[in-house]
Amino acid sequence: MRIIVLGGDGYLGWPTAMRFAARGHEVWAIDNYLRRQMALETCSEPLFPSPNLIDRAAIFHSVTGHTVRPVVGDCTDPATMFSLFAEVRPNVVVHYAEQPSAPYSMMGFDTARRTLRNNLEATFNTIWACLERAPDCHIIKLGTMGEYGTPNIDIEEGWLDVSHKGRKDRFLFPRAAGSLYHTTKVLDTDLLWFYVRLYRLRVTDLMQGPVYGISTSEADHDRRLMPNFHYDDIFGTVVNRFLVQAVAGIPLTVYGGGGQTRGYLNLNDTLQCIELAADNPPQPGELRIMNQFTETFSVNELAERVVEAGRSRGLKVAIRAVPNPRQEKEHHYYNPAHSALIDLGLQPNPMTTEVLGEMLDRVREHADRIVVDRILPRVSWNREVSA
Ligand SMILES: NC(=O)c1ccc[n+]([C@@H]2O[C@H](COP(=O)([O-])OP(=O)(O)OC[C@H]3O[C@@H](n4cnc5c(N)ncnc54)[C@H](O)[C@@H]3O)[C@@H](O)[C@H]2O)c1
Repeated sequence: MRIIVLGGDGYLGWPTAMRFAARGHEVWAIDNYLRRQMALETCSEPLFPSPNLIDRAAIFHSVTGHTVRPVVGDCTDPATMFSLFAEVRPNVVVHYAEQPSAPYSMMGFDTARRTLRNNLEATFNTIWACLERAPDCHIIKLGTMGEYGTPNIDIEEGWLDVSHKGRKDRFLFPRAAGSLYHTTKVLDTDLLWFYVRLYRLRVTDLMQGPVYGISTSEADHDRRLMPNFHYDDIFGTVVNRFLVQAVAGIPLTVYGGGGQTRGYLNLNDTLQCIELAADNPPQPGELRIMNQFTETFSVNELAERVVEAGRSRGLKVAIRAVPNPRQEKEHHYYNPAHSALIDLGLQPNPMTTEVLGEMLDRVREHADRIVVDRILPRVSWNREVSA
């Protein structure tokens, strides 16, 4: 297949580009380094530096013989997108090119506006580049489980059958996002659904949970091919923050009551899911939504797992509750369906003590680069506090 990865320099985009290239597909990876720039602007650089997209692609080629074609460009620029799609005529586009941080989107007007414009325009241009230049292209879009929020009923995979006053219909599952970033994902889904209905696009929208892991079969060839590892409060996920705190010898900071439950998955499972989606495209006129996670954990459970992994590596790890900077339910019902990807063939890699232990080993290699000040919350959802 001819595949374009939008956001190909990112945490998920780079491993995805390598995986498809290693499988023999023709791969283009486009990125405008927005993530690197935002990290610099907010003092949130990753734990270890990674070569830029062009250098990574060259290293990957020299180490494996496989080719990822790097493109430095902005997906919010229609001319860039139209000419790329005209040149490539992709069968598949994997759309990761968004501002993915909830705290960044909640810092204030400028970051909120940047998130809104970047994410919506990248999605809008992807839709139109397909319509105008590659109408049969399968769009694989990364959404988030955060689109649903934490409703007091079971979460279905994208759709809800509703009976109302004796009549029945199927609707997008109600969404209730908890940050502006997550709200842009809801809006993305609505945009995609509109154009699927209108112009018979074929779209897979993957409602993904937080991803952890830095080891993939391609990245493991050479340390310079490793994906980004952010551990700060703005771009780091809770798993990465806890692992770095464990290595730094400071308590794991649980936000509030710690009962916030989410669906998580290993980076290798993200790669499986994207491949499965690409290999099994939906029909034209279909918006296929799948919930992409393998296990659910509360924040307290995650902390306990990191304590256990630390113990396996001789680290004594403590846990400390801190005031929650977010507005979210700290104890809630959570039972999302997630069978569609399993039905396609996903074989989950669970979060074992050994998996976390191997991540701890990698973090320890870079322990001298840890800046502990950037792990504690710097952004609050409460405007009075953050002003
Ligand atoms: N990582 C997770 O745990 C997770 C969970 C759920 C959903 N997602 C979604 O998956 C996608 C990828 O996430 P990630 O963790 O790899 O984030 P990331 O920030 O590491 O990667 C996104 C990449 O897209 C690039 N980008 C952003 N806007 C762009 C633009 N206008 N033009 C070109 N490139 C642009 C960035 O520079 C970055 O390299 C995001 O849409 C995110 O919302 C991620």
